Amino acid sequence: MKLLPRNIPLALALIAALGLAALWVLSMPRPLTAADIPQHAGDAANGERLYHAAGCFSCHQPSPDLKDMDASLPAGGAPLVTPIGTLYPLNLTPDAETGIGTWSDLDFVNAVQRGISPEGEHLIPALPYTSYAHMKPEDVLDIRAYLATLPPVTSPEREAEITALPLIRRGVGLWKWVGLDTTPWKPDPKQSENWNRGSYLVNGPGHCQECHTPRNAFMALNSSKAFEGGPHPEGKGRVPSLRGLIERGRYTDAADLASALQNGEAMGYDKLASGGMGQVQRNISMLPEADVQAIADYIASLK
Ligand code: HEC
Ligand code: HEC
Repeated sequence: MKLLPRNIPLALALIAALGLAALWVLSMPRPLTAADIPQHAGDAANGERLYHAAGCFSCHQPSPDLKDMDASLPAGGAPLVTPIGTLYPLNLTPDAETGIGTWSDLDFVNAVQRGISPEGEHLIPALPYTSYAHMKPEDVLDIRAYLATLPPVTSPEREAEITALPLIRRGVGLWKWVGLDTTPWKPDPKQSENWNRGSYLVNGPGHCQECHTPRNAFMALNSSKAFEGGPHPEGKGRVPSLRGLIERGRYTDAADLASALQNGEAMGYDKLASGGMGQVQRNISMLPEADVQAIADYIASLK
């Protein structure tokens, strides 16, 4: 078609409309369907362990305004400050009105492993679904089963303080093409069972890379620099490298590193307190000793 000059604005408008339509389609949420998740009777005891490994409570803490409740429950509403604004992660107790009591298992897996809400909106990757996506779905369902055993708490949802949030959510849909790798975690047959347990806990639920791996220009994890440390994702300070911790003399051996992860600052280990690491360390200390040792053995193997 030969475009006459007077048709140029029309052609440009058409191109813009096609571009927007393409962006709209590309940014659409792609939730899992019921056929994608396993039939699985939730194991609350395993779920409790993974809930600690995954640090769910650290972000879903109760708002300080909530009185007369057990402060160890993940009632949500406490502020989580991110570089784009403040979010108030929701109530994970089984309250029907303000928590996740009425959610289906599929709703839960889609939120935690794909970053999609039951309303079909993209979630901000401050919820580290980019790591949780590698978890075994059975383990995610076990966390759900554990949460269902908690007493329900009424804790109304608080609106995030982020400018143009609906547009940002849609943008997250585009970002997922580069930033969300949904490959399930796989064991390395050349390594021991213990090492593989550590690898799973670190790269799946533990989401250690979210802070310890630097990001590229698209804010996606730069896997060629895995665990090398870099700027803190929350914008302030730096995160240390987890490579060569033994070789660099930070810890004498993997057992010393396990003791550091277990005890943190309380035992004089000085680099496990700030920038969110204190909470991570407290969560790790709630794991069975074998899991802490597995995490340490895996980290100690990163040269
Ligand atoms: C590093 C902080 C962080 C951790 C750790 C975290 N979350 Fe969240 N979570 C968030 C934030 C922030 C949101 C809100 C995201 C948004 O509104 O886009 C959220 C939202 C959610 C939602 C609700 C989605 C919706 O539709 O509103 C669920 C369910 C959830 N998280 C479950 C979990 C579970 C289970 C764990 C542990 C396996 C966990 N989260 C760990 C920060 C976190
Ligand atoms: C919220 C971001 C964040 C997450 C998630 C995180 N870390 Fe850290 N980590 C840090 C920061 C920041 C420091 C430095 C703390 C300090 O100097 O007080 C640190 C320090 C450490 C150290 C000490 C390094 C040294 O040089 O002695 C180890 C070991 C460690 N982290 C392991 C882990 C493991 C294992 C995980 C996952 C289970 C993890 N981290 C998840 C932010 C994080």
